[in-house]
Amino acid sequence: MAYNLLKGKRGIIFGALDERSIAWKVAEKAHEEGAVFTLTNAPIALRMGEINKLAEKCSAEVIPADATSLEDLENLYSKSSEVLGGKIDFILHSIGMSPNVRKKKDYGNLNYDWFLKTLDVSALSFHKVMQVAEKMDIMSDWGSILALSYIAAQRTFPDYGDMAQAKAVLESIARSYGYRFAKSKNVRVNTISQSPTKTTAGTGVGGFDAFYDYADKLSPLGNADAASCADFCITLFSDLTKMVTMQNLMHDGGFSASGITDDLIDQLSSK
Ligand SMILES: NC(=O)c1ccc[n+]([C@@H]2O[C@H](COP(=O)([O-])OP(=O)(O)OC[C@H]3O[C@@H](n4cnc5c(N)ncnc54)[C@H](O)[C@@H]3O)[C@@H](O)[C@H]2O)c1
Repeated sequence: MAYNLLKGKRGIIFGALDERSIAWKVAEKAHEEGAVFTLTNAPIALRMGEINKLAEKCSAEVIPADATSLEDLENLYSKSSEVLGGKIDFILHSIGMSPNVRKKKDYGNLNYDWFLKTLDVSALSFHKVMQVAEKMDIMSDWGSILALSYIAAQRTFPDYGDMAQAKAVLESIARSYGYRFAKSKNVRVNTISQSPTKTTAGTGVGGFDAFYDYADKLSPLGNADAASCADFCITLFSDLTKMVTMQNLMHDGGFSASGITDDLIDQLSSK
């Protein structure tokens, strides 16, 4: 059911790779809620061609951009403003990648060039997205900027590797840039800390199935799926959350506030 929550709003959505992607679901919902937007991803990801199906469904233009490249971001913003016909009301940063995690490097044997790549792609890109947006003055007053995080920023999940540091930096950038953008443009900046979700990035983490099941059992509501994450993103782009900023918002079915649950006790007692 749609509520027209984003009627008249213009956006830019980073990170829809395939239909499992969180950004894919956000794009579908944003379209249902009346927004117009451009879709973007790294040129290499666009080669798969999947995104064209989404673009057609949402009547959205696809503009390639490596989110670590200032030049690509400038091009993305000038084309998006032109295509959408005005300033931008919302941006979704749904980007994450660690070469160390991908190549299953042990945390005591990290490749430091790859570590820097992890930080650049998964965290600094969020700063770049905002710094270029501010310099080009593309954001509308009372706009909303959002990135996706994971609770490994606060707690240790051994197989999450250097992505844990990337998420900690990402959340910190949301606070620092949130302050700045609030003062200059009343733009809010938040991160959503999402449950484990079965996407390309998610399932690339070692032991994913085990910690997906564990999180599901430790969450009184169960794991939040990509579609419900998209619903939450829509509320944060809407005018109903104008005073929420500089927050890391848990979207995890209660996982982060639970010590143990009956489901886990049952499972552990049956051993
Ligand atoms: N899946 C999970 O379990 C989970 C849980 C919490 C948070 N998150 C976060 O959600 C976000 C979206 O991930 P997802 O789970 O939908 O997986 P996904 O693999 O579908 O999306 C990750 C996206 O990042 C893009 N990307 C990588 N490098 C890029 C670059 N240089 N420039 C532009 N884009 C680039 C990829 O092409 C891809 O579209 C990520 O920040 C991820 O860390 C995921």
